[in-house]
Order: sequence, then structure tokens, then C-alpha cells
Amino acid sequence: MLVLGIETSCDETAVAVIEDGRKILSNVVFSQWVHKRYWGVVPELASREHSKTLLPILQAALKESKVTLREIDGIAVTQGPGLVGSLLIGLSLAKGLSYALEIPFVGINHLEGHIFSNFLEYPDLSPPLICLIVSGGHSTLVKVKTWGDYEVLGRTRDDAPGEAFDKVARLLDLEYPGGPSIDKISKECGSSGVKFPRAFLEEGSLDFSFSGLKTAVALYVSRLTSGEKVKQKACIAKGFQEAVVDVLVEKTFKASSNFKIKRIAIAGGVANNSRLREKLSLEAEKTRLRLYLPSPLLCTDNAAMIGAAGYFHLSRGEQAPLELNAFPRLPLGQVN
Ligand code: KG4
Ligand code: ZN
Repeated sequence: MLVLGIETSCDETAVAVIEDGRKILSNVVFSQWVHKRYWGVVPELASREHSKTLLPILQAALKESKVTLREIDGIAVTQGPGLVGSLLIGLSLAKGLSYALEIPFVGINHLEGHIFSNFLEYPDLSPPLICLIVSGGHSTLVKVKTWGDYEVLGRTRDDAPGEAFDKVARLLDLEYPGGPSIDKISKECGSSGVKFPRAFLEEGSLDFSFSGLKTAVALYVSRLTSGEKVKQKACIAKGFQEAVVDVLVEKTFKASSNFKIKRIAIAGGVANNSRLREKLSLEAEKTRLRLYLPSPLLCTDNAAMIGAAGYFHLSRGEQAPLELNAFPRLPLGQVN
């Protein structure tokens, strides 16, 4: 089965062709750079970029896969959560192609797509598993009971970790997006970094909160002279990163021990963080749990993960109606 995956939920315009759910024939991602000067995604600019670039990206994905539109068996498109104006552009393309080619299409929850990046990367992986999805918009801890059956165990109560990385990077005059900049500069700090608080919340909670940490960094920076700020930049970045990583690692392993699930997977842009990957690996070794770390291109937003999730739903005979709508919020597992 050849599935065309389409992803336009935020600031990546992406199209992929997936064969039988796991083989990536093409995975073309255009990361919109227009948002850089605003230090965050501007919804209207994102929509305009998607509408300008989606068809050329579709053509590039088809060309790379050496597949023609007529050979595609089904279409998978991100339905939410995300920016509605952006989602509608992908959804309109999926509907138009589905109608014209007389093939089915399905709407995919973006978070389910992230989970499926592990399905793509690891053919031997089978649920149950705990998946930590961490990105610019999300921080969600999920129990994957089986493919398609999820229980959300915890989520962020305020900022997503990627958002916190981006905001702290701006405070430190680093480049956007902040995650990779902080990851890189942290390595220049010779100590364990500036000590910042960790928000573990109430006893037993698997939710996350990063806005207090961001405020703590802002307060710390506001008390420095500009010279001190330059001098301490790497160690402030490192201290902040350590605080985020400690909470993510502890809660993920807590979830695994609570439910006695021995497989842990991660996904989302922040899953590319080198310290997070390192700490998770150390902890997995210590506790003898199996850890799944998808490659960077599959962690950040892409359409291959949407195509893989789509294959799963299409092969069960699912099909969306042409009235299918886009949703800014869409709970994992909810079908609209
Ligand atoms: O999954 P993604 O591409 O898009 C969303 O769905 O948000 O994630 C983007 C986020 C950005 O906030 C970026 O700063 C963060 O992922 N990110 C990182 C790293 N690489 C990307 N955060 C920490 N460390 C990294 N190496
Ligand atoms: Zn994402």
C-alpha cells in the first residue's frame, strides 16, 4: 500500500510517500524560516508559506519516490492539534486529491504521528510502551497500549519544553530555534551549570510545568551585568537544560515503573536534545529498560510519521468524510 502523508500543522510544510507503513520512499520537509525574526511562529505567515510551498513540496516528494499520483492508494493528513489556518491547507489538498483520484483519506492526530516515528524507525518495536512526546507545542507522556490505543498519563500545564528552550535562548541572545542553540552552547560550560529549580509538581503527578523555570532563568539573567551575562551564558544554558532534562527523564521512568512497561520511546523536536538522549540512555542502562530514540529527521515535524500512522488506519478500512474539519486542540485517540 502506498500512502501519501501530508503535514502542515505548524511551521513545517511536509509531504512523504510511505510503502506498506514502514518504508520511506520520500520524506520532504520545508522548514519555514520566515518566523525567525519574530522568535516564534506567526500563524498567518505560516498559512501563507504552506499555501505557497505545499504543491512544490508534493511534486518533490513524488519525484523523489518515483511514484505517480495515480499509484497512491490512500492519503493521511494531519487534522490537529495545530494552527487551524495551516491545517486547513493540508486538509484541502488531501480532500482534493482523495476526490479526484477516488482514493480514501484519513485525518491523523499530530501526536499519534509523533508516536509513529518510532514505528517507522524500529520494525521490532511493539507495544505496550511509554512514549514521551516533547516539542515546541507539546509535552505529553503517553501509554501506548497497542498501536491506535493510547492513554495520556501527563501533559504540560503551561509551556512546552521546546517553547521554554526557545524563550530562554532569546534571553541569552542565542539563535532561533533555541533548542539546538542551547544544546550546543551548553557543551562549552566547564561546570555542572547554574542551579535552577525543578518543578516535579504534586507527589505522583506525571504532568509537566516549565514556565517557573523560565522565569527563574529570566530573574537570574536580569541581575547580571551585560559582561557577566556573556561570560556565564554557556553555564546558564547548561543549568536550564539540566533542569528540563531531569524532570523529563524522571517522569518518563516513573511512568514506566508505575505501569511496569519496559519499553520507552521518545518523539518530537526536543527529543533531539543530546543531553536528554544521553540521560535517558544512562537511566535505561541502569534500569535495564529498552529505549527507542528515533533519528533527528523523524523526531522533528515530518510527513513520514503521518504517512505511517495513516497506513495503520487505512489498512483497518478507516476513511474520513470530505466534511472532515481541522482542530486546534485534538485529544489523542479522539476521532472526529
Ligand atoms: O516537533 P517540532 O519540530 O515542532 C513542534 O511540533 O513544535 O519541535 C520544534 C521544537 C523547537 O522548540 C526547538 O527549539 C526544539 O524542538 N528542538 C530542540 C532541539 N532541537 C529542536 N530542543 C532542545 N534540544 C534540541 N537539540
Ligand atoms: Zn510536532
